Amino acid sequence: MSAHLVSRRQLLQRSLALSGSLVSARALANKWPALPDPNVSAFELAVDEGYWRSVSAFYKKAAGIVNLEHGYWGKMSIPVEQSYIELTEMVNQQLSYYARKDWYADAQEAVTSIADALKVAADEIALTRNATEAMHNLLFQYQGLSPGDSVLWADIDYPAFKRTMAAICEQKDLNGIALELPAQANQQQLIDAYKNAITGAPNLKLMILTHVSNQHGLILPVKQIAAIAKQHGVDVICDCAQSWGLIDFTLPELGVDWAVFNVHKWIGAPLGVGALYMRRGTLEKVAPYPGESDPDNSKVSARIHMATANFAAFLTVPHALKFHQQVGPAAKMARLRYLRELWVEPARKMAHIEVLGATDSASASGMGSFRLAGQSQREQVNTLQRRLEEEFGVFTVGRHDLASGSCIRVTPQVFTTPTEIRQLSNALAQLG
Ligand SMILES: Cc1ncc(COP(=O)(O)O)c(C=O)c1O
Repeated sequence: MSAHLVSRRQLLQRSLALSGSLVSARALANKWPALPDPNVSAFELAVDEGYWRSVSAFYKKAAGIVNLEHGYWGKMSIPVEQSYIELTEMVNQQLSYYARKDWYADAQEAVTSIADALKVAADEIALTRNATEAMHNLLFQYQGLSPGDSVLWADIDYPAFKRTMAAICEQKDLNGIALELPAQANQQQLIDAYKNAITGAPNLKLMILTHVSNQHGLILPVKQIAAIAKQHGVDVICDCAQSWGLIDFTLPELGVDWAVFNVHKWIGAPLGVGALYMRRGTLEKVAPYPGESDPDNSKVSARIHMATANFAAFLTVPHALKFHQQVGPAAKMARLRYLRELWVEPARKMAHIEVLGATDSASASGMGSFRLAGQSQREQVNTLQRRLEEEFGVFTVGRHDLASGSCIRVTPQVFTTPTEIRQLSNALAQLG
C-alpha cells in the first residue's frame, strides 16, 4: 500500500505498535469501569463506598494534601490520559500528513460524541478551545444590540464574563444591569429574582445565565428563567462551563438557544477543549467569525476560527465521554452532592459558619461554599484559605465575586473520600 493510502487509524495502530503501547492500550480499554447496575438507583450508588473505591482506582491521586479544589479543571482518568498520550504521540509522529488528511473527519467524531451526550444534532455543536472562547465569540459577534439597549448579568456569573459584558456596554453605549441574587436561595427565589429583573429592565436584549455558579455551586433553574426571557424577547446565553458532568442534564432540558461548555472540567478531557451550542435556526443574530462565511446561517463552526490547536486533546474527547458515561452521570452527580452534604449538614449547625448558595436540593450541586460568619472581606477569606491549608491540610480556594462578599469554595471529585470530607468538617468545627 502506498503511503498516501494509509489511513489515520492504520498510522495510529502502526505508531502504537512501534512504541509497544498498543497492548497496554487494549488492556486499559478492557478495564474501564463496569456500567452501573441499572437496578441500582443513583441515590443508592452515591453511598456505595465499594463502587467509588473502584472508580477511584482509575485516577492517579496526589498525596500530601486533601485537595477540595476540583472546580478549576478536571483530572483525566488513567485510560483517558493513556489515550491522550498515545494520540499526542501519533500527532507528533504524523504531523501535517495526519492533520491535512484525517483531522477534519476525526474532529467530527469529537463533535458527534459531544452532541450525542447533550442530545442535540451534531450540526448544532462546534469545537472551541474552552468555554471562554465560545462565550466571547457569541458576545462579540452578537448583532442584536443598539445604543441604549440593556444587557443583564448576575453576581453569581463567571467574573471574566461579567467584565467582558461591562466592557461591551462601554463600547456600544449599552445599559449594563448587574443583578444581585440572595447569598442563599432556592429555585423559586431565583426564578422570582430573574423575573423581576427581566420585566423591570428597559430594552433588555441579551442576558447570560450560569447553569452552575463557579462561586458557590448554585444551580439556576435555567429552563424556567429562559422561558420568561423568551416571552420578553430577550436572548439568553447559558454558561454550562461548570455544570456539564458535575450535574447530569441534556440540552433539551435547559430550553436555551445558545450555550457554552468546556469538556476539560467535569467530563475529564485533556485541557484545551470546549464547545459551542447554537440551536438550528438561531444563527442569524450571531455573525460568523470575521472573515468566515456562512450565507445560509447554518454553520455553527463558522462562528469560531479554531486555527492550529491541540489536535490530540480533541481526539481524546470520545474517550473521556465514554469514561464519564461508564461511571454514570447520574451516579456522579448524586455522589458529589452526597459529599457536599457531608460537610454542609454539620456546618449549618455551627454558629460561626455561614454556608452559601443552595437552600433546597434542586439548587445544590457537589460544589459548595462558606465563610466564617460576618467575615466576607477578601483578606479575611484569603487568611482562612491559608489556615485550612497550613493548619488542617485541606486545600480550597477563595472566591470573591458574590454581591454578599468573599467565600471559600469547596469542590470534591469522584475520588474524594468521606474521610477527606470529615477532615474539612473537623477543621470547620475547630475554627469556632
Ligand atoms: C461558570 C464558569 N464559566 C466559565 C468558565 C471558564 O471556563 P474556561 O476556562 O474553560 O474557558 C469557568 C471556569 O472555571 C466557570 O466556572
